[in-house]
Amino acid sequence: MGVDIKMKGKKVKSEGISVDLTGISDLLGLMKESWSGLYLHSANVANLTLRICTFLRLNQVEQKNVIAGAFFHDVGKMFVRREIVEKPGMLTDEEWAELKEHPRRGASIVAERGEDNSLVEMIRYHHERWDGKGYEGLKGQQIPLYARVIALADALDAMTSRRPYRQPFVMYEALEELYRCAGFQFDPELVSALTEEPFWQITTYRDPGRLEEQINEEKKWLAQLVDSYTLSHPVVYAQSQWLDRLLVIFCKFKGYAAGRG
Ligand SMILES: [Fe+2]
Repeated sequence: MGVDIKMKGKKVKSEGISVDLTGISDLLGLMKESWSGLYLHSANVANLTLRICTFLRLNQVEQKNVIAGAFFHDVGKMFVRREIVEKPGMLTDEEWAELKEHPRRGASIVAERGEDNSLVEMIRYHHERWDGKGYEGLKGQQIPLYARVIALADALDAMTSRRPYRQPFVMYEALEELYRCAGFQFDPELVSALTEEPFWQITTYRDPGRLEEQINEEKKWLAQLVDSYTLSHPVVYAQSQWLDRLLVIFCKFKGYAAGRG
């Protein structure tokens, strides 16, 4: 995929708010070079997180923090043996134990580099479950809010991605699964927030007013993602053709190379 990120050694600035990822941006570069699939997953989760943030009405600073968490949530996987992460069959107990270490490892790597505690917590607790049956057993509100948001985006990306043993879910099926697991795996209030407004409403040209509104909304969040993380090709979950076209138009408008790669 033609995803590019250029954050090394500089502050990322957007609309007067800066997110300083100088200390850890090389980790994303390393991830991109060494494991493009993991980088793609991280960018997808960041993109979905941004989408969720707009429905949760988080302010810009909150959005930027949680999106940074989404980009780095799986950074610890770079230090787990690749054959374990990508193993198609059942894991042995030993392999499973190693894989389960990735949130802690990612969190400690980012903490060692002096990053903000909320970023560290998002990474460490992104595999917690609302019912306390996650990796570390945190329950309900004990789990930091942003880690709960990333868990939702992570699950959406996992379900809508192709696996060797199954076809990808379409988005409405993935959302149904979220609703089914609300109160067990996921924060029920967050899940219900996504139902307040149609999260993935299919808009048609029969409803030009709504279409225009949605295009403007999409442009806004694409702009935030591109500007905040200087992505030359943001990975966009596109459930319809016009979103792809919108991205191309947007990239041309911004002077970025067109196409998703
Ligand atoms: Fe993870």
